[in-house]
Amino acid sequence: MSDEVRNGYEQADWQKHYDEQDLSWDLDHVAPPFVRLFEDHIINPGNLIVPGCGQGHEVIFFAERGFQVTGVDYTSGAVGLLRRSLKNKNLNARVLHQNFFDLDDNHNRAYDSLLEQTFFCAIRPDERAAYVDIVSRILKPGGMLAGLFYETGEKGGPPFNTTEDHIRDHFGEVFDIERLEKCTFSDEKRRDKEWLAVMRKK
Ligand SMILES: C[S@@+](CC[C@H](N)C(=O)[O-])C[C@H]1O[C@@H](n2cnc3c(N)ncnc32)[C@H](O)[C@@H]1O
Repeated sequence: MSDEVRNGYEQADWQKHYDEQDLSWDLDHVAPPFVRLFEDHIINPGNLIVPGCGQGHEVIFFAERGFQVTGVDYTSGAVGLLRRSLKNKNLNARVLHQNFFDLDDNHNRAYDSLLEQTFFCAIRPDERAAYVDIVSRILKPGGMLAGLFYETGEKGGPPFNTTEDHIRDHFGEVFDIERLEKCTFSDEKRRDKEWLAVMRKK
């Protein structure tokens, strides 16, 4: 991503990436740590939401395994790709084409779990507190956030650097952080750069 946009992205900036098929963040498959958490019965079937889901490899993976999945993305390029994949695979999932920060009260306490992947680092750092407020509002009591947080070690963004302290500072008050470690089974592209977090809403 070029220097002139390192102060944060607007929707049009994301759309440009989809128009130009420049999805440098996209792994082309579900992130391996989420597969591991599923196989280890840490992410269990129920209502699951994926904010800033992009083309939605996680949405597909968990819909295929019987979860009731909601993917949210405000960019039509992302939503179009995901809806097409779901149709081709004859799968059901709810795809919301909207701003995550505008989720209304109908979503309150609606979800058993939320998957975070390269969305927390995609929003501006001054939006992080609002992110935590919304996540805690839409999860059921005891609901789980399973997250891969991206430590770029660089200034500016997106992606904006996320450290262990950032995660503890933002989530520590409203979540019990059950697990927070440098992920040792990341995709090659993200090796040594991801924090794996499992937290439960207090
Ligand atoms: C870096 S991409 C990550 C996509 C996906 N999570 C992945 O890892 O492949 C960030 C995504 O978040 C979406 N996005 C950014 N801000 C958003 C917002 N406020 N509401 C909904 N989607 C947003 C963008 O359209 C983009 O698809």
